[in-house]
Amino acid sequence: MRRTTITRQLIGKKKLSYLYFLGLLGFAICMIGFAGPLAGTAAAETGKDTGKTSVCAECHEDLAAAFKGSSHNALGADCIDCHGEGAEHVKEGTAGTIMAFKNETPLEKSKQCLKCHKNSTAQYLAGPHAKAAMDCTKCHKVHKKQVMAHPSKLCVGCHQDVLAEFKLNERHRLQEGILECTTCHDPHGPAIRERLAGFKHEACLKCHTDKGGPFLYEHEASRIEGCSSCHDVHGSPNRHMLKHQNVAQLCFSCHAAAPSWHSRFTTSDANCASCHSTIHGSNLSNIFLK
Ligand code: HEC
Ligand code: HEC
Ligand code: HEC
Ligand code: HEC
Ligand code: HEC
Ligand code: HEC
Ligand code: HEC
Ligand code: HEC
Ligand code: HEC
Ligand code: HEC
Repeated sequence: MRRTTITRQLIGKKKLSYLYFLGLLGFAICMIGFAGPLAGTAAAETGKDTGKTSVCAECHEDLAAAFKGSSHNALGADCIDCHGEGAEHVKEGTAGTIMAFKNETPLEKSKQCLKCHKNSTAQYLAGPHAKAAMDCTKCHKVHKKQVMAHPSKLCVGCHQDVLAEFKLNERHRLQEGILECTTCHDPHGPAIRERLAGFKHEACLKCHTDKGGPFLYEHEASRIEGCSSCHDVHGSPNRHMLKHQNVAQLCFSCHAAAPSWHSRFTTSDANCASCHSTIHGSNLSNIFLK
């Protein structure tokens, strides 16, 4: 679906006849020259218009060669799809005559990408990264094929404080590659917190399937901010990544009182969950005893 939209955009784009002409000319010269057979076959095989790229390639040989291996090239995108029409630039070959993702505002840069990436990232502009004046190129290098085996490495470059949390005793095994920041966060997402929270953290239930119910008796604690109302999920010094070292403290952070006979359980070694053992929800007990 996305692909067809983009293809249509590519086909529907107003062709710059001047560039087109130069392209054809370049192509013709290639056919005559010794590189002819190769270039000719490539163009014929893919049936793509390589004219525009080859115009740029005349002066930007290295970049054009590197670009050949990129996903965008494989999809039929061209230099000018990102850099805009460069008639003046092609004539002059000077800086400042073509979009260079340098002096433009972050918004202008991102918009250039969002022309095509409508579906996956249209919401991007409402998200925290865009609001922090980050454009797509802060995380993506598009000239070459970018391999992100471990996207977390990119994230912790900026979010050092979060990495520190993943070094605490009780933690998710991020460093071991069992999960990535992107398992729980969409870096393009508009409302990252909202997506995680709600009654159930969607992101958590992918793995902790048993914690989300449905339960006849839900613990409404989860309604407040989902699983993170009780757990610090990056990491925590406390067992089970709980927000408080002492479970009673955790419970009393929301519950003003328990039945008075509970007073003996308020010491620091009491674990309310030893009786209220189905703390995430139950089908049998409305006070989570079984
Ligand atoms: C006639 C040779 C020539 C052609 C053809 C050409 N360029 Fe350039 N381009 C240059 C030179 C030289 C520079 C470096 C200018 C400088 O730094 O002073 C440059 C710089 C650039 C820059 C950086 C501009 C800046 O402001 O820093 C971009 C982006 C660029 N070219 C893209 C393209 C694209 C896309 C095409 C094809 C549509 C293209 N060029 C075709 C010669 C050319
Ligand atoms: C998918 C979008 C995209 C396409 C397609 C693309 N570029 Fe770029 N180009 C960028 C971005 C973004 C930058 C800014 C530097 C960066 O983030 O890597 C850039 C930077 C440049 C620069 C200046 C910086 C440098 O690396 O020297 C030149 C010159 C350039 N591109 C030429 C080209 C040419 C020639 C092509 C086609 C072969 C091309 N670009 C295709 C997005 C693109
Ligand atoms: C001419 C349309 C077009 C433009 C403009 C464009 N893209 Fe793409 N891009 C695509 C298509 C089509 C795909 C493949 C489908 C997909 O993964 O969304 C793709 C794939 C990608 C991918 C995933 C594959 C990879 O190489 O890692 C990234 C990341 C990406 N684009 C970033 C960008 C950025 C950043 C810009 C702006 C500098 C940009 N794109 C501009 C069409 C475009
Ligand atoms: C904060 C860093 C960051 C920013 C900013 C960012 N991305 Fe990404 N993007 C990523 C990471 C990380 C992945 C890989 C996700 C994965 O592998 O799970 C990705 C994946 C992608 C993909 C391929 C997968 C998909 O979602 O379809 C596309 C396309 C893409 N980004 C486009 C963009 C565009 C366009 C922008 C700007 C509007 C942008 N990104 C801004 C980090 C970022
Ligand atoms: C170039 C630096 C940079 C990179 C790389 C980066 N971020 Fe961010 N991130 C920021 C900034 C700046 C903010 C907004 C200020 C803040 O809340 O810290 C932000 C905000 C966020 C937020 C929202 C924080 C909140 O308080 O709501 C999340 C979640 C986030 N980033 C996750 C990620 C993930 C996941 C990655 C990797 C895919 C990533 N970031 C990569 C700089 C970066
Ligand atoms: C297991 C899921 C998970 C993983 C993995 C994860 N996060 Fe989070 N992250 C969360 C949850 C849940 C919150 C709290 C959201 C809320 O307050 O509702 C959060 C909050 C954040 C915030 C907001 C500020 C804060 O610390 O509360 C940032 C920034 C952030 N995460 C970045 C990252 C980065 C960077 C990585 C990778 C190093 C990462 N996260 C890995 C689930 C995760
Ligand atoms: C990719 C799968 C995955 C996702 C997503 C995930 N977890 Fe985990 N979680 C694990 C694994 C595996 C462990 C076991 C810890 C280890 O690796 O030693 C774990 C451990 C935990 C523990 C501690 C368990 C114990 O016995 O001490 C808690 C609490 C937890 N996760 C909560 C969450 C929450 C809340 C979320 C959502 C924000 C979440 N997890 C998302 C895989 C995941
Ligand atoms: C009301 C607070 C609270 C909420 C909300 C909560 N937990 Fe827990 N969770 C606990 C307590 C307390 C323990 C420790 C239980 C014990 O000591 O036996 C625990 C233990 C865990 C464990 C490890 C032990 C086990 O049973 O596997 C995981 C995993 C876990 N929680 C995941 C989640 C997930 C996922 C969510 C969101 C759907 C969530 N928790 C929401 C309080 C909570
Ligand atoms: C984030 C806040 C929060 C935390 C932390 C929390 N609870 Fe709750 N709990 C609630 C809410 C909200 C309800 C719904 C009834 C209410 O308003 O009291 C509830 C209901 C209950 C009930 C059902 C009986 C009743 O009062 O309606 C029990 C039992 C209970 N919690 C025990 C615990 C225990 C044990 C802990 C500690 C492991 C705990 N809760 C931690 C918010 C919380
Ligand atoms: C020895 C087992 C046991 C321990 C430990 C325990 N509880 Fe209870 N709790 C019960 C039983 C049984 C009831 C129901 C009887 C009653 O209401 O008197 C109950 C009732 C409650 C209720 C009221 C439910 C209602 O009916 O509204 C709350 C709130 C509660 N416990 C919280 C806690 C907290 C917080 C802790 C830890 C400080 C804790 N419990 C430790 C057994 C226990």
